[in-house]
Amino acid sequence: MRKFVAGNWKMNGLRDSLENIAELATAHARARIDIMICPPATLLSKACEINGSLKIGAQDCHSAEKGAHTGDIAAQMIADCGATAVILGHSERRENHSETDAMVRDKTIAAQSAGLTAVVCIGETLEQREKGETLNILKTQLEASIPDEVDPDLLVVAYEPVWAIGTGKIPTREQIAEAHAFCRSTLLERLGSSANNVPLLYGGSVKASNADEIFALQNVDGALVGGASLSPTDFSPIIHALEATV
Ligand code: PGA
Repeated sequence: MRKFVAGNWKMNGLRDSLENIAELATAHARARIDIMICPPATLLSKACEINGSLKIGAQDCHSAEKGAHTGDIAAQMIADCGATAVILGHSERRENHSETDAMVRDKTIAAQSAGLTAVVCIGETLEQREKGETLNILKTQLEASIPDEVDPDLLVVAYEPVWAIGTGKIPTREQIAEAHAFCRSTLLERLGSSANNVPLLYGGSVKASNADEIFALQNVDGALVGGASLSPTDFSPIIHALEATV
């Protein structure tokens, strides 16, 4: 499996930020890993016009093919821009837009039907971790957010503890390794050996200073990076750290 590092720009970036994508594309033209930027929807089309091997993804899609859904974006529209992936079920969507596992599952079906890779995000809150519920939460989210008919070749799973996102707090190596091993075995039970090829990304306060440690862990196949993906100066060392593992 190719390792995978994705930058989630969230609601950040104007047209002049496209320069950052061009800079990354040049700096990592011969990368031995998959690198993706998920800019806001307004920049998707332009970002896809930048030459290079960088992948471009969206941050969400609607589950319907088309129709009366003001403000929403269909998976096929994302593919039509030239993007190849979409982040689904990010904790900020789950929290700010009350997205449920069932909604994420329907979006995953829509994304894959449009030929997009679905980057499905799961993760526990601090309260759930403190109550010892982490693995149960991950199991439920994996079962309910990933459809039975999933195409494992178009699936990436991101483990993102909600309490580690944008906080600078990071789980211990043991906690990350435990969660990733659990995700792998749960996916293996569900999907069979093809689950070995589903990249498992860690997300939550990944920075150049902790990337080496995180990428050294078993079953960590890359990262979903928020804040540190906004500038090439911060993101490039993370890309290099992952590349050093292959
Ligand atoms: P962060 O965000 O790297 O800023 O913590 C990660 C994410 O939300 O995917």
